[in-house]
Order: sequence, then structure tokens, then C-alpha cells
Amino acid sequence: MITQPLGKTGLSVSRLAYGCMRIAGTWDPKEITAAREAAAFASLRAAYEAGYTLFDHADIYAQTGCESLHGKLLKEEPSLREKAMIATKCGIRFGGDPQPDSPHRYDFAGEHIVWSCEQSLTRLNTDYVDIYQLHRPDVLMDVGEVAEAFAKLKEQGKVRFFGVSNFSPSFVDLLQSRLPDPLVVNQIEVSLSHLHPFTDGTLDQCQKDTITPLAWSPVGGGWLASDTFDPGSDWDPARAKLHSTISATAKAHGVSNAEICFAWLLKHPSRMIPIVGSTDPKRISSAVKATEIELSREEWYRLYLAARGEALP
Ligand SMILES: NC(=O)c1ccc[n+]([C@@H]2O[C@H](COP(=O)([O-])OP(=O)(O)OC[C@H]3O[C@@H](n4cnc5c(N)ncnc54)[C@H](OP(=O)(O)O)[C@@H]3O)[C@@H](O)[C@H]2O)c1
Repeated sequence: MITQPLGKTGLSVSRLAYGCMRIAGTWDPKEITAAREAAAFASLRAAYEAGYTLFDHADIYAQTGCESLHGKLLKEEPSLREKAMIATKCGIRFGGDPQPDSPHRYDFAGEHIVWSCEQSLTRLNTDYVDIYQLHRPDVLMDVGEVAEAFAKLKEQGKVRFFGVSNFSPSFVDLLQSRLPDPLVVNQIEVSLSHLHPFTDGTLDQCQKDTITPLAWSPVGGGWLASDTFDPGSDWDPARAKLHSTISATAKAHGVSNAEICFAWLLKHPSRMIPIVGSTDPKRISSAVKATEIELSREEWYRLYLAARGEALP
């Protein structure tokens, strides 16, 4: 797989990341059967074999189950660890944690960040994570406290680089103002079904500050990638138009709809990395083709206009 620079780290990573959110096949860790574990291993192995070098996790995926599955694979095959840059996240706390009446919330308390990271390391069977990300902006974020927690994790060799997710440009600036090292990623929802980051300053900031945008849900959670769209269904006309434009472009390039969605993101000058969320080994390896598709500006804008649903001024 083609590689590219990662933020200002001086390191290279694969142009597609592998997203581990769905590998458990369930959000309930009690439902992770031997069959589901085997399927998760098959998905992860497909990604390693296809040359993905960036793997994205979060403590909440399958409520810790996804990190544990990856950690189990790394225990069985320790040589995989050096092939991967492992990213994970903290900061979302589900309702009921720690008290039954605790609300669903975000928590960037220094103590919670450090504790969460240590738990992730244990589950992932590793001494360090490559990129540690704050999952969703906690409006109570005290930048000094977060900076201290990051410094501690870095000094102890538990984290190599830090990043954020779903942060607005001003929130990135606020945090960045107290950190000694640059943030390397901002993981955001961006796709042909989610265009705001192109115009709300998020991708401008990434390009200006050399922060790598990691694109989550790059095929809109699945529907953009569907090759079986039925025009007779009850989809609204705007969605149908976008889907048919993707299909026509895919046909012209001899690739799948998903691969066009990834190639469309890859063309942006912020050097975005789409996070591939499929669990299907064939789709995971086929997605690599996207890194070799060169969409013309005309093709890019045709897709953009179909996604906007209205002409540009
Ligand atoms: N930071 C955040 O807040 C946040 C939020 C959500 C996700 N994420 C990250 O982003 C990653 C991707 O998100 P996502 O899973 O929602 O992304 P997605 O790639 O938009 O959607 C994946 C879904 O699309 C389906 N799909 C069908 N055809 C596909 C194809 N050809 N290629 C890829 N997928 C296809 C997959 O089914 P099959 O498995 O059957 O292929 C899967 O159910 C996650 O794993 C996670 O790492 C981050």
C-alpha cells in the first residue's frame, strides 16, 4: 500500500487506516463468541496482509472488546506489533459509569486520561500506543490538566504521539496552545454524505498545521458503498442522485463504489486518511485500489455537487 507522512512526526503510514470499531460484530462484550473472535482475527489479518499500517481503536468499541480482541491476536502473533501503528481513544464515559445514575458524558480529567490509557495498554497487550486520541470534545476540558496527563504518559513511554477526534478548529487551537508537541491527527466524520469539514475550517486547519485528518465513516456507515442500490426503493431523490453518480464513476474506473468514496477523500490536499470500517476481508484488501485511483478535478466536483444537492454559486 502507498504510504504518506503522518502529521509532523516525520513517519510514514498507509494511506488507508483500518478501523476496528466493528470487528467484534457486537457492542456487547458478553456476546463475543469464538466464532466472532475468529471473524475479528480474519478482518485484522486481512488488513495487516493488505499493508494497512494504521489501526484505529477506542476504549468504548464493543465496550473494550475490540481492543481485547486485537490484543489477543498480538499475543498470538507478536511480530504483528512492529508492523502496526496503533491508535486508540479515551474520554467517552457511558451512562452508569461509575454509578448507576452517572450520565453519558465526556471526561478529560487528567486522572481519567492516564487511567484509561493504562487500561488500553493492558487490553491491547502492548507497552505503548502510537497515537492516543481524545474521542469527543469535553467542554470542561482544562488544557493545563490535559497537558500534564499527556506529559506523564509520554515520559513513561506509554504514548508516542497525541491526537484528537471530532474537535473544532478552535478546540484544537486551545489544546495545542499548551502542548509541547504538535497534535498529529484530528479524526473527523467526513465523506460524500458529510461535507461540513470542507467548509467549516476543520480541513483548512489540518492543511495549515500539518495535522493529518482521519476520515471516519468514509462510506457513510455503508450506504454510499452499497452496490445493490435499487432505484425503485424509497430513497429520497438527492440520495439516489449521489449514489448513481458514485456508481457511474466507479464503473468508469472499474472499481467498487467504496473505492471511489475513498479516492474522493484521498484527493483532498489536507492528505486525509480514510478509515476503512469493513469487516469483510475481501473488501478490506480491495480498498487498497483506491490509493491508486487519480480522480480528475471534474470527477471530484461532479461527486461534490451530487453530494451538496445544489449547484455552486
Ligand atoms: N472518532 C469517532 O467518533 C468515530 C466514529 C465512528 C467511527 N470511527 C472510526 O471510523 C471507522 C470507520 O467507521 P465506519 O465503520 O462507520 O465506516 P464506514 O466505512 O463508512 O462503514 C462501514 C460499514 O459499511 C459497510 N460496507 C459495505 N461495503 C463496504 C465496502 N466496500 N467498504 C467498506 N465498508 C463497506 C461495512 O460492512 P461490511 O463489514 O460487511 O463490509 C460496514 O458495515 C471505525 O472503525 C472507527 O475506527 C470513529
